[in-house]
Amino acid sequence: MQDLDIDGRTLLDSAPDGILVADAGGRIRLVNQQVEDLFGYTAEELIGQSVELLMPQRYREKHTSHRDDYASHPVARPMGPGLELIGRRKNGTEFPVEISLSPMETAAGQVVTTVIRDVSERRRLQEESNALRVELETERERHRIGMDLHDGIMQSIYAVALRLELILDITEENPEVKRQVERAIEELHDVSRDIRSYVFDLRPRQFAGNFSNALMELADEFQQNSQIETQVEISPGLPTIPTSQAVSLYLVVHEALSNVRKHARASRVSISLRRVDPYIQLSIADDGTGFDPGGEVPERHRGLRNMKARARAADAVMSIESQPGGGTSVNLRIPA
Ligand SMILES: Nc1ncnc2c1ncn2[C@@H]1O[C@H](COP(=O)(O)OP(=O)(O)O)[C@@H](O)[C@H]1O
Ligand SMILES: [Mg+2]
Repeated sequence: MQDLDIDGRTLLDSAPDGILVADAGGRIRLVNQQVEDLFGYTAEELIGQSVELLMPQRYREKHTSHRDDYASHPVARPMGPGLELIGRRKNGTEFPVEISLSPMETAAGQVVTTVIRDVSERRRLQEESNALRVELETERERHRIGMDLHDGIMQSIYAVALRLELILDITEENPEVKRQVERAIEELHDVSRDIRSYVFDLRPRQFAGNFSNALMELADEFQQNSQIETQVEISPGLPTIPTSQAVSLYLVVHEALSNVRKHARASRVSISLRRVDPYIQLSIADDGTGFDPGGEVPERHRGLRNMKARARAADAVMSIESQPGGGTSVNLRIPA
């Protein structure tokens, strides 16, 4: 294999992908620097070894027969199209790869040039974008359910309540009927409040305009639906929070409020945005039952975890101060 000399390697070393040349028997004849880096072997350790060294044990036997097939129909093509190809490093760790093969006639006989690309990063991005898509679809579905509840079921409840009010008007002389109808109206109010709380949880969490207004609108809506007194305090003269950050913070506040309604049995909650040098601090503080924020939370309760992740996405650090019986304060420190 005189034609594959050291100069050939210098050229191949500048390629971005791993390049490996093997002979018809599957022996490695040449590798570039990227192959050494990818697999953690030196060229000396690889030359003369069979290419199966670079794949996990479980694929080796099968590969030997694939290699024989290829030798009888050598054409340029990707290896194992549609299959997940895995490389194995010297230290035994595995990583996803993409491989293309092309045959080449040389003075020393037929060889196969193999281009190997590490696709771990691409896989990771793909998985991330799949997860985002699922989240978006879920969000759309929640929106739809929220709208159905709001526009359909709530309207029906109003209609029934109205009819009961009418009955009340014409049955003034029967105190027992009057009492029962009044109770039914009260119960309907409770049902409607419950539904409005669900709608609050399900609605699309978006806002237009600035963060302060969005917080005030959210607080208003929350107070109406939860009957928990909700205050917003925003110090004057704070720097504007960019929308991309504000969206994440808004979602955290939404989830925190949702927790207050579901868990805290609070009578008041206050949302504040103020300067606590060198940060801007956003707090959601309730006067409810409190809990142990250091305690284990079962996997299916994802609210606090999501809040933390969203805070991170906004460059903020979230901390929770809470004691059983002593109320809860969720604090976010945003670099000013
Ligand atoms: N403001 C709060 N007051 C009291 N308990 C809370 C509060 N926020 C969270 N918790 C507790 O933390 C747990 C985890 O919250 P979270 O991760 O949002 O999950 P979920 O709301 O689905 O239970 C809740 O089940 C509750 O016990
Ligand atoms: Mg929650």
